[in-house]
Formats: sequence, C-alpha cells, structure tokens
Amino acid sequence: MSFFHPIHHTFAPHVNGAAVLRTLSLLLQPWKWREGPERETLRKELTRRYSADVFLFASGREALAALLMALKGPERAEIIVQAFTCLVVPNAIQAAGKVPVYADIEQDTLNLDVADVERRITPRTQAIICQHTFGIPADTYKLRALCDRYGLLLIEDCAHVMPDETGPQTIGKDGDFMLLSFGRDKAISGVTGGAMLSKRPDISVSLRAQEGDAISLSLLRIKRLLFYPLVYFVARPLYGIGLGKPLLWLARKIGALVPILTKEEKQGRMDARLHRLPNACASLALAGLRDLTAINDHRRALTKYYFAEAARHRWTFPKAIHPDLPLQKFPLFTKNAEGIRRSLKKQNIHLQDGWSGCTICPPGSPMEEASYRPGSDPRAESSAQQILNLPTHPTMTKEQARMLVDKLRNLLKQTN
Ligand SMILES: Cc1ncc(COP(=O)(O)O)c(C=O)c1O
Repeated sequence: MSFFHPIHHTFAPHVNGAAVLRTLSLLLQPWKWREGPERETLRKELTRRYSADVFLFASGREALAALLMALKGPERAEIIVQAFTCLVVPNAIQAAGKVPVYADIEQDTLNLDVADVERRITPRTQAIICQHTFGIPADTYKLRALCDRYGLLLIEDCAHVMPDETGPQTIGKDGDFMLLSFGRDKAISGVTGGAMLSKRPDISVSLRAQEGDAISLSLLRIKRLLFYPLVYFVARPLYGIGLGKPLLWLARKIGALVPILTKEEKQGRMDARLHRLPNACASLALAGLRDLTAINDHRRALTKYYFAEAARHRWTFPKAIHPDLPLQKFPLFTKNAEGIRRSLKKQNIHLQDGWSGCTICPPGSPMEEASYRPGSDPRAESSAQQILNLPTHPTMTKEQARMLVDKLRNLLKQTN
C-alpha cells in the first residue's frame, strides 16, 4: 500500500484528483492562461480577508523584489532577514539593489532573535523581513516595537503560512506588509505565484505601478507550469517501483516542467524583470484560498498528532510549537537527521525538503553571493544541521503520519 503512496514533502503536495481536473480544464482553455477574471477575484478575496491592498506577481520572490524596488531610501539600503531562509529571499533583496543583512534565529522558534536583530540595525537599515518559519509565528509584537523605535518597515514573510479565521491570530497583524507565495508546496498553491499585501497606502501607489509595468509570462511557460500537477500526479505513485524518478527526469529533459529555481537563481542572482501572475495560476490559487480553512485544519490535525507523539516519546522540537498551529511542516531536532532521511528514503519515505543542512536553503546555495558569512549566525547553522521535517501537507494522510511516526520511533531511539 505504501508502495504507491510515498511519504514526501515535494512531490506536488497540493495535487489531488480535483486539482488535476481543474488543471486539465485550464489546459483546454488557453485564452484564460494569461488574462481572465480569476486574477481579480483572487485579489478581491485576499483584500477582504486580510484588509490590505493586494499586488499580484508571478512568484513570491518577485512580489518581494517589487516591494523593495518601490521603496525609496539610501542607496544600498540594508534589509534585515533571518539566517535559515530560502536563497530566493536574499536574491530578491539584491535584485532590488539592496543589501541583505542576516540576523540569527532562536532555536525555540526558528524565527528571528529580536535582540540580535537590534544589534544588526545601522543608519542604512530600511526594513526587517520576519519569516514565520514553517508556520511558527514570529514575535511580531516585539519586532513592531523595534521598527517603530528605529523608523523601519516590517515585512511579514508568510510564504509558509496563511492565517484563517482560527488563526494564528498574530500573523499579519503588526506588519506593514505581508508576503504570500502560491508556490508548489506553500500554504496554498497556484503552481507559481505570489502577492504583496500592503497596509501602507503611500507605498501601495508605487507597488500598483510596479504591477502595472510587469510583463506577461509566455504561453509556453504557462503551459509548462500547468503540466506540473499532471506529471507529478502520474509520477508520484510510480516512485515506489522505481519509475517515478526517471519519468520526472524525462519530463524535465523534454522541457515539460519549469524548475523552482533557475540556474541563475541557484547562483545567487535574480532577473529584476517582474511578471504578472498568470490568470491560470490565479485560478488554481483561488481554489486553494477558498479551501484555506480545510487545508489549515488538516495541517492543524497533523501538527496536533506529531506534537502529542513527539511529547510522548520525548523527541526534541522547537519549544514555541503549539499543537493548534497549522504548520507547513513539523520540525524535529536530531543528531542524525541526514542518516535518518537516508534510511527512510529506501522505504519510499522522502523527507528531504531543501530545508536541512543549509543556512541559506536549499543545500548548495552560494553563501558569498547571498552575502552570508559562514559562522555569523551559529544558532541558525546548528538548527539547520539537526532538523528533520515531517510533512503536514494536504495530501499527507493521517495513516501515513502514523506509519512515519512508527518508523521514527525506532530510528530516533537508535540516534538520541
Ligand atoms: C521563506 C520564503 N520566503 C519567500 C519565498 C518565495 O516564494 P516563491 O517561491 O513564490 O518565490 C520562499 C520560497 O521558497 C520561502 O521559502
């Protein structure tokens, strides 16, 4: 049974039968790929939900670059961001002509250490990006106070979590801006896409101009993006019999899939041109948004389960995790994280998610190009070495979570 249902983070975690049907229907209507009413509906629903001006782009990284380009300020202004982040974040900062300055994290939250942030503020600092890592809420209350004291902007990076009626209540409350991603494994998915939500009408004016000037993705690129749910839906159950990987390799080889990071991005550079959110991706993201409560409830149920098991077996995990959070993934800490992942992979359990063993993720990201000095943020570095993330995504079942916990019980006993 588990043979045809791999446990994973990255094999199209949002894609179920309904998503495949929606994608097929979009593929048959190419006139809706670039422009159509769904993008404006998505904007309206996000505006209503989060009471902010909404600007849509082809990815979260572009939405962040758009905001930073829209900000006036000193040349080479500094943007404070946490270590243990995704490479595309410093890439976007640098594409906007600004400088990423890293602050360390707390191991208990995997989020910014506010005292360390204060130490890194200089007269050139313009903004703080606070990442709610894996959906663990950052201390926006203290960060807001810090921003007010030093005259800085607060950007909440909500790529990993979108709050709903149930919470988390503090996310999106104190920031001037909220960054959303509609990437493949994010809170909701449009295969690609992102939004900058602004509560600063003065800066919204420039963001509107940035979105107005953005160019469309080519029809070919949108078609390739729409292949992603279909290719993975076929490849995923074939992983256990060794055919999934070659099928994905072939799909990539013939150009049927768009990589998450371009070659240039992997080298620490981002094209500064901004793109409109394709209407087809908006349409998929809109379906996710309308389902957000159910998606988050599922994540809450798995978080609660992992929390109870981790507490029962005395596994180590960030202390700030609360059983009611809709985590994007549930992090454990163990000395042998990589060995455990390797051993599980042989059993069709794929826990490599790009967020382990790297201070700037995924592993192999160029530190120098990302302006990160190894050794400068020791807690981020040691957390990243020990992290073992468990999936909570919409297609991860409770039964799979039970099976995973069963296997971990032995593996973690041998390690810790
Ligand atoms: C913390 C964080 N912020 C921002 C982004 C950017 O999102 P996108 O992939 O939509 O560009 C990511 C994506 O991986 C992320 O992990």
